Amino acid sequence: AVEPDLTGKRVLISAGGTREAIDPVRFIGNHSSGRQGYALARTAAARGADVTVVAANVGLPDPAGVHLVRVGSAVELAEAVEAERAGADAVVMTAAVADFRPVNSAASKIKKSGTAPAPIELVENPDILAGLVVSREREGTAQTIVGFAAETDDVIANGRAKLARKGCDLLVVNQVGGGKAFGTDDNKATVLGADGTVVDVPTGPKEDLADRVWDLVAERLPG
Ligand code: C5P
Repeated sequence: AVEPDLTGKRVLISAGGTREAIDPVRFIGNHSSGRQGYALARTAAARGADVTVVAANVGLPDPAGVHLVRVGSAVELAEAVEAERAGADAVVMTAAVADFRPVNSAASKIKKSGTAPAPIELVENPDILAGLVVSREREGTAQTIVGFAAETDDVIANGRAKLARKGCDLLVVNQVGGGKAFGTDDNKATVLGADGTVVDVPTGPKEDLADRVWDLVAERLPG
């Protein structure tokens, strides 16, 4: 039996990957499946938490017993997270958020013209994770904020730098590339803590990594 150690706790999880419209039929996207986010949702619910998931383009069966909010783009994800973050004891950002979006999304499908294609001009998306940290500091509330990062090389050094830059409490660093992480059921990760802790999670089901993340979050929750 699972310990209901998250009973009475509210957790917010972002999952999947954003899509940034180029025109009504095309987008800039990424390979995030939402599996890790949904695994976090299922395990948190099993441990008694009140779970909200903001899902960006996830094509998996809905996790049972969680409040699901569907979004498409990074701006929509930011708005949904902003609407749901207040009062959450923990926020875990697993979603792969596009760093940039097209400045303009064409109103109708872009056609081949026979001449050189027009370049797609991009603008930066808000950093939602960093924004969560700013909101928490402003409000002075106790909220554990967790980021995920996919790195292809110098995993620990890059992860440490990213943790410091984002200001979150925990950063789960995945080694990606070579068939690891994206779209697979298994995940191998290192969880870095702002307090200097380093926890290696061996290759295993995404549920196992999720449970380890909740263990580390539970340790940091007040009370
Ligand atoms: O900087 P990078 O995209 O590698 O950081 C990954 C972490 O930051 C993830 O937790 C992701 O959900 C979050 N993120 C975000 N807003 C962005 C980009 C990333 O919240 N615009």
